[in-house]
Amino acid sequence: MARLIFHGHSCFEFLTDDDTRILIDPFLTGNPVADVGPEFFKDGLDYLLLTHGHGDHIGDTWDILDATDAQLIATYEIVSYASDVKGVENAHPMHIGGGFDFPFGRVKFTIAHHGGKVDGKGAEGYTTTPAGIVLTLDGTRVYHAGDTALTKDMELLRGEVDVAIVPIGDNFTMGPEDAGRAIEMIQPKIAIPMHCGTWEMIAVDPARFVHAVGAAAEVEILEPGGELEL
Ligand code: NI
Ligand code: MN
Repeated sequence: MARLIFHGHSCFEFLTDDDTRILIDPFLTGNPVADVGPEFFKDGLDYLLLTHGHGDHIGDTWDILDATDAQLIATYEIVSYASDVKGVENAHPMHIGGGFDFPFGRVKFTIAHHGGKVDGKGAEGYTTTPAGIVLTLDGTRVYHAGDTALTKDMELLRGEVDVAIVPIGDNFTMGPEDAGRAIEMIQPKIAIPMHCGTWEMIAVDPARFVHAVGAAAEVEILEPGGELEL
């Protein structure tokens, strides 16, 4: 059984049975709710995945990639920026709708409705399409929605997802009620909220998400540092 560890905002770490260590959206430095800093990953990381190019998702990516042998997995435009400007050599480009079987399991990029700017020095020429990510780890299918609005495309994930991690903070993404509707569409076993409480602008009571989900799934509210066996 793989393990999931929440590090605040949209940052999740996954550890598989064969000790593969995977990180999504490592916004740690400057994140007021992160439980660890980037050094936590510098003793060994295998894969670093990004949902989109905003600073609160790219975060410490370049520092962590510099310090480890981790492979970057991201959309083509982010990988282009990484290789052209950041000198990243170990990277695997993907895009919306495409899946790939990595040694640790399958990764599929899914539709997310959000902004495409890639933040960073020298990133002016790079704009991407934000994505969600479905990871299949040790037989469990985990959907990290990234930053997204509620979209009817989420119905396509019904029957494809065991654990759904969705933003609920409103303002930049779905709020708790729309996120509840997303869970009704997807019908996972477990729903985990993210992208809330980091700042005042997205300070939303997760109880509203629990209420909106109702009986559609079991909700696991994780504090930064919190873990879940998948
Ligand atoms: Ni964003
Ligand atoms: Mn965000």
